Amino acid sequence: MVLKLGGSVITEKDRPETLDGPALDRAADALAGADRSRDLVVVHGGGSFGHHRADEHGVGVESGTGDAAAAFAVHGAMTTLNRFVLDRLHDRGVPALPVHPLSAAARGAGGELTLPLAQVATMLTESFVPVLHGDVVATAGEGVTVLSGDEIVVRVATDLGADRVGLCSTAPGVLDGDGEVVSRVSSLDDAALGGSDATDVTGGMAGKVRTLLSLDAPAQVFGIDGLGAFLAGESPGTLVD
Ligand code: IPE
Repeated sequence: MVLKLGGSVITEKDRPETLDGPALDRAADALAGADRSRDLVVVHGGGSFGHHRADEHGVGVESGTGDAAAAFAVHGAMTTLNRFVLDRLHDRGVPALPVHPLSAAARGAGGELTLPLAQVATMLTESFVPVLHGDVVATAGEGVTVLSGDEIVVRVATDLGADRVGLCSTAPGVLDGDGEVVSRVSSLDDAALGGSDATDVTGGMAGKVRTLLSLDAPAQVFGIDGLGAFLAGESPGTLVD
Protein backbone atom coordinates (compact mmCIF):
# COMPACT_ATOMS: atom_id res chain seq x y z
CA MET A 1 0.00 0.00 0.00
CA VAL A 2 1.04 3.59 -0.54
CA LEU A 3 0.55 6.23 2.14
CA LYS A 4 0.90 9.95 1.62
CA LEU A 5 1.50 12.08 4.68
CA GLY A 6 0.28 15.53 3.72
CA GLY A 7 2.80 18.27 4.25
CA SER A 8 0.25 20.27 6.20
CA VAL A 9 -0.23 17.34 8.59
CA ILE A 10 3.43 17.03 9.59
CA THR A 11 4.41 20.72 9.39
CA GLU A 12 3.00 24.00 10.61
CA LYS A 13 1.85 25.04 7.19
CA ASP A 14 1.67 28.80 7.89
CA ARG A 15 5.10 29.05 9.51
CA PRO A 16 8.11 28.66 7.21
CA GLU A 17 10.08 25.46 7.75
CA THR A 18 8.40 24.53 11.00
CA LEU A 19 7.68 20.94 11.88
CA ASP A 20 4.47 19.90 13.62
CA GLY A 21 6.41 17.64 15.96
CA PRO A 22 3.45 16.17 17.87
CA ALA A 23 1.63 15.34 14.62
CA LEU A 24 4.72 13.72 13.13
CA ASP A 25 5.14 11.71 16.33
CA ARG A 26 1.55 10.50 16.04
CA ALA A 27 2.08 9.51 12.42
CA ALA A 28 5.33 7.73 13.26
CA ASP A 29 3.62 5.91 16.17
CA ALA A 30 0.89 4.71 13.81
CA LEU A 31 3.43 3.54 11.24
CA ALA A 32 5.41 1.73 13.93
CA GLY A 33 2.24 -0.14 14.85
CA ALA A 34 1.45 -1.17 11.27
CA ASP A 35 1.53 -4.78 10.08
CA ARG A 36 5.10 -5.31 8.78
CA SER A 37 4.14 -8.20 6.52
CA ARG A 38 2.45 -5.81 4.07
CA ASP A 39 4.42 -3.68 1.64
CA LEU A 40 4.32 -0.03 2.60
CA VAL A 41 5.62 2.95 0.65
CA VAL A 42 5.42 6.34 2.35
CA VAL A 43 5.37 9.62 0.43
CA HIS A 44 5.32 12.93 2.26
CA GLY A 45 4.43 16.39 1.06
CA GLY A 46 6.16 19.70 1.46
CA GLY A 47 4.03 21.73 3.86
CA SER A 48 5.85 24.77 5.15
CA PHE A 49 9.17 23.35 3.93
CA GLY A 50 8.66 22.78 0.19
CA HIS A 51 5.75 25.10 -0.52
CA HIS A 52 7.29 28.04 1.25
CA ARG A 53 10.57 27.80 -0.64
CA ALA A 54 8.85 27.04 -3.94
CA ASP A 55 6.67 30.11 -3.52
CA GLU A 56 9.62 32.27 -2.60
CA HIS A 57 11.41 31.29 -5.81
CA GLY A 58 8.35 31.28 -8.05
CA VAL A 59 8.60 27.56 -8.82
CA GLY A 60 5.42 25.62 -9.46
CA VAL A 61 4.15 22.49 -11.14
CA GLU A 62 3.99 24.22 -14.51
CA SER A 63 6.37 27.17 -14.14
CA GLY A 64 9.96 26.23 -13.51
CA THR A 65 13.24 27.87 -12.71
CA GLY A 66 16.62 27.57 -14.35
CA ASP A 67 18.31 28.87 -11.21
CA ALA A 68 20.20 26.01 -9.55
CA ALA A 69 20.38 27.81 -6.20
CA ALA A 70 16.59 28.21 -6.17
CA ALA A 71 16.12 24.55 -7.14
CA PHE A 72 18.51 23.48 -4.42
CA ALA A 73 16.73 25.66 -1.84
CA VAL A 74 13.44 23.87 -2.52
CA HIS A 75 15.05 20.44 -2.71
CA GLY A 76 17.11 21.14 0.42
CA ALA A 77 14.01 22.11 2.38
CA MET A 78 12.42 18.83 1.31
CA THR A 79 15.41 16.68 2.22
CA THR A 80 15.54 18.42 5.61
CA LEU A 81 11.91 17.51 6.19
CA ASN A 82 12.57 13.97 4.90
CA ARG A 83 15.36 13.58 7.43
CA PHE A 84 13.00 14.59 10.26
CA VAL A 85 10.51 11.98 9.07
CA LEU A 86 13.19 9.29 8.77
CA ASP A 87 14.64 10.08 12.21
CA ARG A 88 11.26 9.72 13.89
CA LEU A 89 10.56 6.46 12.10
CA HIS A 90 13.97 5.06 13.03
CA ASP A 91 13.40 6.11 16.66
CA ARG A 92 10.50 3.67 16.59
CA GLY A 93 12.24 0.84 14.77
CA VAL A 94 10.58 1.41 11.38
CA PRO A 95 13.12 0.31 8.70
CA ALA A 96 12.66 3.43 6.58
CA LEU A 97 14.99 4.49 3.75
CA PRO A 98 14.88 7.83 1.89
CA VAL A 99 14.27 8.11 -1.86
CA HIS A 100 14.83 11.57 -3.35
CA PRO A 101 12.91 12.06 -6.60
CA LEU A 102 15.17 14.85 -7.95
CA SER A 103 17.98 12.32 -8.30
CA ALA A 104 15.94 9.90 -10.39
CA ALA A 105 12.94 11.56 -12.04
CA ALA A 106 12.50 13.75 -15.10
CA ARG A 107 9.60 15.49 -16.80
CA GLY A 108 9.27 15.80 -20.56
CA ALA A 109 8.15 18.90 -22.46
CA GLY A 110 4.58 17.55 -22.54
CA GLY A 111 4.57 17.07 -18.76
CA GLU A 112 5.12 13.30 -18.90
CA LEU A 113 6.94 11.99 -15.85
CA THR A 114 9.74 9.43 -15.87
CA LEU A 115 10.27 7.97 -12.41
CA PRO A 116 12.30 4.77 -12.18
CA LEU A 117 11.15 2.66 -9.23
CA ALA A 118 13.43 -0.39 -9.23
CA GLN A 119 15.09 0.86 -6.04
CA VAL A 120 11.70 1.22 -4.34
CA ALA A 121 10.60 -2.26 -5.46
CA THR A 122 13.84 -3.81 -4.23
CA MET A 123 13.65 -1.97 -0.92
CA LEU A 124 10.19 -3.52 -0.46
CA THR A 125 11.39 -7.04 -1.17
CA GLU A 126 14.17 -6.42 1.34
CA SER A 127 11.55 -5.37 3.93
CA PHE A 128 12.45 -1.69 4.03
CA VAL A 129 9.92 1.13 4.05
CA PRO A 130 10.83 3.55 1.22
CA VAL A 131 10.02 7.17 2.07
CA LEU A 132 9.71 9.47 -0.95
CA HIS A 133 8.74 13.12 -0.93
CA GLY A 134 7.46 15.94 -3.10
CA ASP A 135 10.45 17.55 -4.76
CA VAL A 136 11.68 19.57 -7.70
CA VAL A 137 12.30 17.66 -10.89
CA ALA A 138 14.32 18.49 -14.02
CA THR A 139 11.80 19.42 -16.70
CA ALA A 140 12.42 19.83 -20.43
CA GLY A 141 12.19 23.51 -21.37
CA GLU A 142 11.52 24.71 -17.81
CA GLY A 143 14.62 24.04 -15.74
CA VAL A 144 13.08 22.40 -12.68
CA THR A 145 9.42 22.30 -11.72
CA VAL A 146 7.62 21.06 -8.59
CA LEU A 147 6.72 17.37 -8.47
CA SER A 148 3.97 16.92 -5.91
CA GLY A 149 3.83 14.04 -3.51
CA ASP A 150 0.37 13.25 -4.90
CA GLU A 151 1.77 12.72 -8.38
CA ILE A 152 4.44 10.46 -6.91
CA VAL A 153 1.74 8.50 -5.08
CA VAL A 154 -0.14 7.88 -8.31
CA ARG A 155 2.98 6.79 -10.15
CA VAL A 156 4.18 4.49 -7.37
CA ALA A 157 0.72 2.99 -6.88
CA THR A 158 0.29 2.42 -10.63
CA ASP A 159 3.74 1.09 -11.45
CA LEU A 160 4.05 -1.13 -8.38
CA GLY A 161 0.40 -2.25 -8.47
CA ALA A 162 -0.56 -1.03 -5.00
CA ASP A 163 -3.73 -2.57 -3.61
CA ARG A 164 -4.71 0.58 -1.72
CA VAL A 165 -3.70 4.18 -1.34
CA GLY A 166 -4.12 6.44 1.67
CA LEU A 167 -3.88 10.19 1.84
CA CYS A 168 -3.50 11.50 5.36
CA SER A 169 -4.57 15.15 5.25
CA THR A 170 -5.44 17.90 7.75
CA ALA A 171 -9.15 17.36 7.08
CA PRO A 172 -10.85 14.16 8.30
CA GLY A 173 -11.79 13.42 4.67
CA VAL A 174 -13.17 15.21 1.63
CA LEU A 175 -15.66 17.76 2.93
CA ASP A 176 -18.93 18.91 1.38
CA GLY A 177 -20.22 22.51 1.43
CA ASP A 178 -21.42 22.09 5.02
CA GLY A 179 -18.07 20.86 6.22
CA GLU A 180 -19.26 17.25 6.56
CA VAL A 181 -17.08 14.34 5.49
CA VAL A 182 -18.32 12.78 2.25
CA SER A 183 -18.07 9.00 2.55
CA ARG A 184 -17.42 8.37 -1.14
CA VAL A 185 -16.32 10.47 -4.12
CA SER A 186 -16.41 8.99 -7.60
CA SER A 187 -16.20 12.22 -9.60
CA LEU A 188 -15.18 15.82 -9.03
CA ASP A 189 -18.88 16.81 -9.01
CA ASP A 190 -19.59 14.70 -5.93
CA ALA A 191 -18.33 17.27 -3.46
CA ALA A 192 -18.00 21.02 -3.17
CA LEU A 193 -14.26 20.91 -2.90
CA GLY A 194 -12.50 23.88 -1.40
CA GLY A 195 -8.88 24.84 -1.96
CA SER A 196 -6.39 24.89 0.88
CA ASP A 197 -5.99 28.33 2.55
CA ALA A 198 -2.28 28.19 3.25
CA THR A 199 0.43 28.42 0.59
CA ASP A 200 0.01 25.37 -1.62
CA VAL A 201 1.57 25.38 -5.06
CA THR A 202 0.06 22.05 -6.06
CA GLY A 203 -3.69 22.64 -5.92
CA GLY A 204 -5.38 21.90 -2.58
CA MET A 205 -8.02 19.21 -2.01
CA ALA A 206 -9.67 19.46 -5.44
CA GLY A 207 -6.32 18.76 -7.07
CA LYS A 208 -5.75 15.82 -4.73
CA VAL A 209 -9.13 14.29 -5.52
CA ARG A 210 -8.59 14.76 -9.26
CA THR A 211 -5.26 13.00 -8.94
CA LEU A 212 -6.69 10.13 -6.88
CA LEU A 213 -9.57 9.62 -9.31
CA SER A 214 -7.01 8.71 -11.96
CA LEU A 215 -5.88 5.70 -9.92
CA ASP A 216 -6.88 2.08 -10.42
CA ALA A 217 -6.51 1.31 -6.71
CA PRO A 218 -9.09 2.57 -4.22
CA ALA A 219 -7.89 5.59 -2.24
CA GLN A 220 -8.93 6.82 1.20
CA VAL A 221 -8.60 10.44 2.31
CA PHE A 222 -8.55 10.80 6.09
CA GLY A 223 -7.12 12.87 8.92
CA ILE A 224 -4.41 11.86 11.35
CA ASP A 225 -7.05 10.35 13.65
CA GLY A 226 -7.80 7.84 10.88
CA LEU A 227 -4.22 6.83 10.13
CA GLY A 228 -4.08 3.86 12.50
CA ALA A 229 -7.38 2.55 11.13
CA PHE A 230 -6.19 2.90 7.53
CA LEU A 231 -2.99 1.03 8.29
CA ALA A 232 -5.05 -1.69 9.97
CA GLY A 233 -7.03 -2.19 6.74
CA GLU A 234 -10.09 -0.14 7.68
CA SER A 235 -11.66 2.65 5.60
CA PRO A 236 -11.62 5.95 7.54
CA GLY A 237 -12.64 9.28 5.97
CA THR A 238 -13.58 9.39 2.29
CA LEU A 239 -13.23 6.64 -0.29
CA VAL A 240 -12.15 8.07 -3.66
CA ASP A 241 -12.64 5.55 -6.46
C1 IPE B 1 5.09 19.67 -2.60
O1 IPE B 1 4.60 18.39 -2.40
C2 IPE B 1 6.57 19.61 -2.85
C3 IPE B 1 7.17 20.94 -3.04
C4 IPE B 1 6.56 22.08 -2.92
C5 IPE B 1 8.58 20.93 -3.40
P1 IPE B 1 3.03 18.22 -2.07
O2 IPE B 1 2.23 19.09 -2.97
O3 IPE B 1 2.74 16.78 -2.12
O4 IPE B 1 2.95 18.78 -0.57
P2 IPE B 1 1.70 18.98 0.40
O5 IPE B 1 1.33 17.64 0.92
O6 IPE B 1 0.59 19.61 -0.41
O7 IPE B 1 2.24 19.88 1.46
